[in-house]
Amino acid sequence: MQIFITEDYEELSLKASKIIIGLVKENPYAVLGLATGTTPLGLYQRLIEDHKKNGTSYKHIRTVNLDEYKGLPPEHNQSYVYFMRKNLFEYLDIDIENTYIENGVAENELRECARYDRLLKGMRQDIQLLGLGSNGHIAFNEPNTSFESTTHIVNLTESTIKDNSRLFNDISEVPRKAYTMGLKTIMQAKKILILASGANKAEAVYKTVKGEVCEAVPASILQTHPDCTLIVDKEAASRL
Ligand code: F6R
Repeated sequence: MQIFITEDYEELSLKASKIIIGLVKENPYAVLGLATGTTPLGLYQRLIEDHKKNGTSYKHIRTVNLDEYKGLPPEHNQSYVYFMRKNLFEYLDIDIENTYIENGVAENELRECARYDRLLKGMRQDIQLLGLGSNGHIAFNEPNTSFESTTHIVNLTESTIKDNSRLFNDISEVPRKAYTMGLKTIMQAKKILILASGANKAEAVYKTVKGEVCEAVPASILQTHPDCTLIVDKEAASRL
């Protein structure tokens, strides 16, 4: 694993954006695996600025996202479809038809998982971007998810529901289930870029990098990926 420690979140976002922009320029037909959450927002802002200023084009880029809440339609302002549109896609020249994510309102869960897996098989990620949960989760793969997992439905833990309730009017509105890309599928990406910022991620960063590779810490599997880059700010790196 290649590790970069940055002074702060700004520098982290800039460094991450250079990696993505470089890849898009080198391969304008690349498949980008993307993430939601707070961490990639600075990076997305940089991609938007670069697109405006330097004209980097996403016309032929395809994207696959990690996860989506079950039960939220795309137009719901907490759905991850909505998040991606409002924080990135609307500001790029990307064809929205080339952006893929699980369907939160699919009728049949198992069929939806199988559909997304089929899609991902034909669209191996040139790069997969990840954030890191403070408990070591990646995507919605919580501790003790099988390393062999593919797309599946997850019962969100009480702590995740509580964490995510800050974005909803009331905790009762937070979906109890979500679709997530599995760990095996994440590991199939040609390159992985994982970002972590802030002191509350320090323990998880330590376990990801220096801990035992075990299902109790889902992100520890990244130690075995042949091309994984971790960018952390000083606070998140404080235990390394
Ligand atoms: C987002 C995702 C989650 C987040 C993680 C960190 O699509 O899959 O695993 O990356 O929970 O979230 P933030 O960045 O908000 O700290």
